[in-house]
Amino acid sequence: MSAVMTLPTYEERVAGFDWALSEEELGVSREGRVNIGWHCSDRICDQGRAQAPALIWEDFAGAGRVYTFNDLRVLSNTIARFLQSLDVAPGERVCLFMDRIPELYIGFLGILKMGAIAQPLFSAFGEDSLWTRLENAGTTAIITQKKHVHKVRKIRDRLPALKHVIVVDAASATLQPGETAMALDALPRVERFAVYPSTGETPSVLHYTSGTTGQPKGAQHVHYSLVSQYLTAKWVLDLQPGDIYWCNADPGWVTGTSYGIIGPWSNGITQVVLDSGFNTERWYAFVAKHRVTVWYSAPTAIRLLMRDGTEMAKRHDLSSLRHLASVGEPLNAEAVIWSKEAFGLPFHDTFWQTETGCIVITNFPGMPIKPGSMGKPFPGIKATVLDPRTFEPVTTPGSVGLIALRPGWPSMVRSYWNNPGGYANKFRNGWYLCGDRASVDTDGYFWFVGRDDDVINTGGHLVGPFEIESALLEHPAVAESAAVAKPDPVNMEVVKAFVTLKPGYRGDADLELEIMNYVRKRLSPLAMPQEIEFVASLPKTRSGKIVRRVLRAKEWGEPVGDTSTLMDE
Ligand code: PRX
Repeated sequence: MSAVMTLPTYEERVAGFDWALSEEELGVSREGRVNIGWHCSDRICDQGRAQAPALIWEDFAGAGRVYTFNDLRVLSNTIARFLQSLDVAPGERVCLFMDRIPELYIGFLGILKMGAIAQPLFSAFGEDSLWTRLENAGTTAIITQKKHVHKVRKIRDRLPALKHVIVVDAASATLQPGETAMALDALPRVERFAVYPSTGETPSVLHYTSGTTGQPKGAQHVHYSLVSQYLTAKWVLDLQPGDIYWCNADPGWVTGTSYGIIGPWSNGITQVVLDSGFNTERWYAFVAKHRVTVWYSAPTAIRLLMRDGTEMAKRHDLSSLRHLASVGEPLNAEAVIWSKEAFGLPFHDTFWQTETGCIVITNFPGMPIKPGSMGKPFPGIKATVLDPRTFEPVTTPGSVGLIALRPGWPSMVRSYWNNPGGYANKFRNGWYLCGDRASVDTDGYFWFVGRDDDVINTGGHLVGPFEIESALLEHPAVAESAAVAKPDPVNMEVVKAFVTLKPGYRGDADLELEIMNYVRKRLSPLAMPQEIEFVASLPKTRSGKIVRRVLRAKEWGEPVGDTSTLMDE
């Protein structure tokens, strides 16, 4: 018997679709009470799943812990109460700056339950990346670990709004004045907690995403996003009772919250988390050990699995897998074909963004997959491609245009924090522009072409050139710089920097390495240029703007395009 045979078709799901369907299943409305923290824990307990495992967690050394939905409920209450005891107020931003440890997941729910806004950031961020985002958000509290607190200490005096530095795994005696220890296991368990009476439009999560110009933008989401995240997780990831679900994304990235916390838990599904980096052998062993049924991954990881061949997959018992999905970058047709060979199942591509909050264009289980295509819009999402000059929908199938969505779906970003202009700039003719190009074929399938700006997509993570160039400029040898994407077989794109040097410096291998490390420490390993080319000058427009597209085209072996506005060298 195949579960796939009984699934509704795409057309059946689209016919008469209304988000009210999801509202009814969740018992919420846009105007009424809705709190993601409560929905992901208390409600599941009320439905009789209190003792079901919610989180099966394992660290890099293989040590593990299991938390039931009742544990999630009580421990998130405990963190919520702890934050209240520090006078953290509803609406304030509380940053989660941790590896993928249980406190990160439970803390996320706790912050939402007491009405504050969760701001998850990658623990790999160096102090500059951290500072930019905490400063922009006016963050008042940060929850972190002993191993990362030194980065907070370096910037704290430049963060006047930051009142609380909370460390989950340190004894008070080892902390500095103004820091607070929060050992979750040692705190009195809070059985009953009055959840903040949030309604649909109450802010919930602030996720930072990189853009071409200026600093990263804080995409502000609201509790009503649950309505999209719940249903897309159920339909696209095909979550069903009894599933063991694995999303290998970090909650510093929107995938790790929308589908690494909210989607599965609002559906009452057990999820596994592995707090360790990529390793093919280890990952297969993890799937086999926990009998994972649904796996949500990314092309960059799939390419690494492919590199290690089908043989390695065949050495493990991966027969528990039922459904595979991918997000973050274009999923190459080869990857879909390979996964059928390796696992007997295709990866299903899903397209979305930090700003969309949920999957918007996708291949459903049961829907015929065209390898290399992103699939079709999720019901309730009106998607098209627009002519880049008129911003009117392209009418000829196969013509490339700008991917655009009609605003109004529940998890759409409500604003960019402190940056209303940046938000307004994303709309044309009543459409939200994703910043990507695609074509649509006669069957309504979307085919991704590329991003239409300078943002670098490295292994599914967007890195803005601005931040990298700013860090480069702080190095004493660097006069000017431009960061562009360079093709890479595993990460799709990596950062390459072009640098002009100040007088007296020589661009040799030692200096290249020194500058690379300098950026890695300040920003993150992802933002570190994999190559630095020292050049005499950078291509610029007559108005003095660096034209990254010229440098990028050379890296990709593509035509440089119109150079009429370029300054002569
Ligand atoms: O360029 C698209 C690419 O990732 C961008 C969104 O990145 P971010 O906000 O970090 O969120 C990623 C995960 C939700 C998109 O504008 N992208 C994402 N998924 C796909 C994709 N490109 C091609 N195919 C996809 N499936």
